[in-house]
Amino acid sequence: MRVFVDCDPGIDDAVALAYLAARPEVEIAGIGAVFGNNAVEVTADNALRLLELYGRPDVPVAVGASRPLVQEPRLAPHVHGANGLGDVELPEPARKPVAESAPELLVRLARENPGGLDVLAVGPLTNLAVALGLEPKLPSLVRKLVVMGGAVSVPGNVGPHAEANIVNDPESAETVLGAGFDLDLIALDVTMETVASPEWLAELAGTPGEKARLTSAFLDFYAGFYSKLFGVRQCAMHDPLAAAVLVDPHLVTGAFEAPLRVETTGTLTRGMTVADRRPQPSRDDRRPARIVTSVAEAEFLRRMLDALR
Ligand code: BDR
Ligand code: CA
Repeated sequence: MRVFVDCDPGIDDAVALAYLAARPEVEIAGIGAVFGNNAVEVTADNALRLLELYGRPDVPVAVGASRPLVQEPRLAPHVHGANGLGDVELPEPARKPVAESAPELLVRLARENPGGLDVLAVGPLTNLAVALGLEPKLPSLVRKLVVMGGAVSVPGNVGPHAEANIVNDPESAETVLGAGFDLDLIALDVTMETVASPEWLAELAGTPGEKARLTSAFLDFYAGFYSKLFGVRQCAMHDPLAAAVLVDPHLVTGAFEAPLRVETTGTLTRGMTVADRRPQPSRDDRRPARIVTSVAEAEFLRRMLDALR
C-alpha cells in the first residue's frame, strides 16, 4: 500500500512513523509536515531525522502550513518537548525538505495513482484543507483517509470538548471531515483507552537497538507528561493507533458510522467534533465517517513493539 502521511512530529507521530516504516508492504510515498506540536520547520526537520532513524531515508518530506487558516497557532512543547521529540537529539538529517509544498505533494501523488493512495493525517488538518482547494476531487482520488483527531463522546484534551488536532484548526477540520472521503476517525474515545503501560514501556526500554533506545527515550518524556493525567507513568498511543488501523484494519473491534461536523463558532465548544448519531440524522447529506470505538489493544501493542525491534 502507498501512504501519504501528514503529521506534526511530535512524539506519538514519531512512533506512528516507526509502525509504518517497519512494514515492508507499506510504501511511504511522501510526508507532509504541518505546524502543531511544534513549528512546521521543526516538524519537517524531525520527520527527516525520523525517516533516517526508522530506515526510510528516501521518503520525500514537504513543508506545509505554518499556521491555521483563521486563528493563531498554538504549539505543545509542554507535551512533546522543546524540540518536539522529548528533548532527545537525533543526528542532523542528510537531506532537506523537497521544493513542493505538502498540499502540492499530496495532490500530485493522488493524481498520479487514482484510488491507489491512502492518507494518514495525525496533525492539524490544514494541509489537507489546502489540498482540497487545489484539487476538489481529492476524496475520490484517495482510497482511504484515516484521521487521528476529535473527542466524540469523551472529554477533550485541550478544552472540555476539544482535541488538539481538531481545535488547532477547526475551519480546516470542518472542511476535511465534510469533503466526502472514505474516512476513519481515530478519536480520543479510543486512543485514551489504548495506552503504553509501564510494563510495555519497560519492555521497550530493555529492547536492544537504536530504534528502540531512542523511541524509548521519546516515550519516557511523553509518559512524564501523561503521568499527571493517568497517575502512573504511561502514555496514550494516539497517532500510532491511527497508523495501525490503516495498515491492520482487523485490529478494529468496535465502530459506528455517522456524519461528522466540527463546531467552529461555539464560545465553549469551538473545535468540538460532533457526530450525528440519530437514526435518521437530519437532512445531512454528508458521507458518514467510521468512528472507531475499540481495538484489539494487546495485539496492537505487540505489533508496535515488533516494529521497534
Ligand atoms: C494529537 O495531538 C498531538 O499532540 C498528538 O501528536 C496527536 O496527534 C492528540 O490529541
Ligand atoms: Ca500528531
